[in-house]
Formats: sequence, C-alpha cells, structure tokens
Amino acid sequence: MALVPRVFLTAEQIQKRVAEMGAQISANYPEGPLYLISVLKGAFIFMADLSRHIRTPARIEFMGISSYGRGKTSSGEVKVTKDLDVSIEGHHVLIVEDIVDSGVTLTYLMNVLEQRRPKSLAIATLLDKPEKRLRPVQVSYVGFTIPDEFVVGYGLDFAEDYRNLSDICVLTEDADVAGLGAGD
Ligand code: IMP
Ligand code: MG
Repeated sequence: MALVPRVFLTAEQIQKRVAEMGAQISANYPEGPLYLISVLKGAFIFMADLSRHIRTPARIEFMGISSYGRGKTSSGEVKVTKDLDVSIEGHHVLIVEDIVDSGVTLTYLMNVLEQRRPKSLAIATLLDKPEKRLRPVQVSYVGFTIPDEFVVGYGLDFAEDYRNLSDICVLTEDADVAGLGAGD
C-alpha cells in the first residue's frame, strides 16, 4: 500500500496563522527574556518561523522528548533524549510544540519544567488533535485544531520522512496506486 501525502494546510495558511500567533505572544509578553523551548524534532520549523514573529526579546532552547516509536501510534513511553543546557528559574517560559495528541508528552514536560521554578510556563502548539486526548493539557496558543488524522510536513514526520514539506499533509493509503503495484 502506497502512502500518499495530501495537502491539508498550505504553506500560505500556515505562515499567516504563525504570524498571528507571534503577534499575540508578543503582546502577552511585553518584557523579555522569553525562553522559547522547542521539542525536537517535530517543532523545529515552527520554532524557526514563530520566533521570527515574536517581538519580545527571546532565547531559543531545545529539548528532546520522545513518546512515539517509528510508527503512527504512541509507544506510551516518554523519555528525555536531550535536556536543557540552561536554568529557567525565574524566567518566562513558552513551550513551542508541533502537535498535541494524547497530551502525554506535554503533561510530562510541563511537570519536568515546573519543578525548575520558571516565572511562568505556557504552551504554544501549531496543531491540536483533541479527539484522542488522554491527559488534559492547558494550551495557551493553538494554531489549528484538526481532526484525528495523521499529518506530516512542516517538521512533522512519519518514520523520519516528510519533515521538509512546506505544507502540512494528511498521510493516506492510496488504494489506486497500491492496486497498480506501485508501492507497499
Ligand atoms: P502526544 O504525547 O500523544 O500528545 O504526542 C505528541 C507527539 O507525537 C508530537 O510532538 C509528535 O511528535 C507526535 N505526533 C502526534 N500526532 C502526530 C501526527 O499526526 N503526525 C506526526 N507526529 C505526530
Ligand atoms: Mg513533537
């Protein structure tokens, strides 16, 4: 069965929404430094675009958290694969995420970061898939709320593929292509 990416959100739609989110965040944080903490790897493009629309002096940090295996479903296991290099104590912190699905990853990350006593801690996510939420998460900034479809592109992957697409696409199994024997 061939997997075919079908455009769901165009690069133009994404850019417009990211600019709006940046303006809103800038208004809500008049004073810096604002620590933008992005979760690798999926959020790397969103972080790059969003941070350039934030007028508040910001510092960019990355963490690695993994809750998925190589497939489309969660392994249920969360682990830190890369920790912060800096202290966030007494600072405003905004977690920049690509997508919230079950909420397991962000619940875990919020608990980890809260213990480090930031001045404030909030979440900005480009995509929210609320249908399969297992843990309630309070997300302050949402780009798009989407149905329970597996999406790729704009940083998001399926088994490490498709991250470099400019659009966000739904990955569907193309029966026609498969019927022609063009893939598996
Ligand atoms: P959660 O812990 O279930 O909320 O999963 C969050 C993480 O799973 C995200 O940061 C993504 O890395 C990954 N993920 C969830 N849904 C998708 C999807 O539709 N496409 C690609 N990755 C996804
Ligand atoms: Mg992620």
